[in-house]
Amino acid sequence: MGAISEQEIRGLVDAANGTVSRDIFVNQAIFDAELEQVFARSWLFVGHEGLIPKPEDFFASRMGKDPVILTRNKQGEILVFLNSCTHRGMKLCRYDQGNARAFTCPYHGWSFSTNRDIVDEPGELVGVPHFEAGYGDRLDRKRWGLARCPNVVVYKGTIWANWDSEAPSFLDWLGDMRHYLDFALDHRDGSSGGSEVIGGVQKWRVKTNWKIVAENFIGDMYHDISHRSVDTVGIGPGGTGRRDAQRPRLAIGFSDLGHGVLGEMPHSAEPDYAPTFASHPEVEAYYRKIYDAKVRNLGDQPRVTNSVGTIFPNMSFHSRQPRTILITHPISPTEVELWRFYLVDANAPQAVKDAARHYYLRYSGPGGMTETDDLENWTYAIGSSEGAIARRHDFNYQLALGQAKPVPGLQGAVQSGTYSEENQRIFYRRWAQFMSGMNWSELMPGSDATEEVAHAR
Ligand code: FES
Ligand SMILES: [Fe+2]
Repeated sequence: MGAISEQEIRGLVDAANGTVSRDIFVNQAIFDAELEQVFARSWLFVGHEGLIPKPEDFFASRMGKDPVILTRNKQGEILVFLNSCTHRGMKLCRYDQGNARAFTCPYHGWSFSTNRDIVDEPGELVGVPHFEAGYGDRLDRKRWGLARCPNVVVYKGTIWANWDSEAPSFLDWLGDMRHYLDFALDHRDGSSGGSEVIGGVQKWRVKTNWKIVAENFIGDMYHDISHRSVDTVGIGPGGTGRRDAQRPRLAIGFSDLGHGVLGEMPHSAEPDYAPTFASHPEVEAYYRKIYDAKVRNLGDQPRVTNSVGTIFPNMSFHSRQPRTILITHPISPTEVELWRFYLVDANAPQAVKDAARHYYLRYSGPGGMTETDDLENWTYAIGSSEGAIARRHDFNYQLALGQAKPVPGLQGAVQSGTYSEENQRIFYRRWAQFMSGMNWSELMPGSDATEEVAHAR
């Protein structure tokens, strides 16, 4: 699907006045254009290194509506392929995760290898039943290899990919939003990286539009009213008390990039230690020790200590407790598949990992007490917007309109108080830019090409 005309886009998103047409959440033609204009050009989160630790491990992931295989070959390269056989499109790998020497299609048996000791180019076709008798020399095995994603980057354990070979580098894409993502991915002692994904990945489908989820995590403190019931029960990290005590946070948005957080300004002092695991002495001792290490390790380097955010278009994260990554995969205009990954310090004692896992399950995911509130909001907001009459009425995003102020020290960032829809306005303005078919020099003025930052570890 091609781009949507500028004139049509103006009728759909009016970021300056804070209105957005419901059509962008329910219309099939707009959804089809999103797959091409947004998802086929964006850096998308595809997994975590810890999901494919050994050679020939794989993890079946998704990019937009396309199924992909994330794998590590024998040479240690991390690769992403379209998970669709080149012969007749069969989903090549139907396991969620595993280890495979080659990928053999269940339909007619074509097989593909990723290892450079067998093929020149990872993904090449290596096995074809009835090859000699049936094809002679007509079948060019190199031509019929798997489609391979040209840009793959590892960032502090997380793996990102982009199908557009002209795309800007991942670090340019991320900009200073990096500081907020870092806090989710760094070790709690302040050292870089060091987190791992625990347990399995939670996956579930919800009847809603992907943007409603993205805009919720981009900085919507306003909806806290819908979590009032969970705020009254004792589901806190240590098993008692309120869910993680929140210090005041601000909507901080990255106007040129489309990302945003509900977070704190970067500051240089670590807040005082607050015990949360009184009933688990071993866990409490760990966090106390880690707190002291962080104060030592970071000194007066700036740090953020709490944020929930969305990286355009569909990667959201909680950086503190719970510490999780949520990917909202588009399935149709009115359906998404949500994937939640949970992070812990890789070298933490098992008791600490278990306590974190228990808290995460109480809080997030399809059975989590906080997430289920939001699942209802998202489902009914879209379900009641599909009708002919509902579609005539725009959504309102006017909270704190005109109140954004620059954030010193963060390139392109603005803050607009705690209760604000500035980040949502930023998100939809960015979405409109992609949907109108802007090219990279318009979308990312001044950024470098992808190859200039190959691996950001
Ligand atoms: S569809 Fe894969 S071998 Fe035919
Ligand atoms: Fe929520």
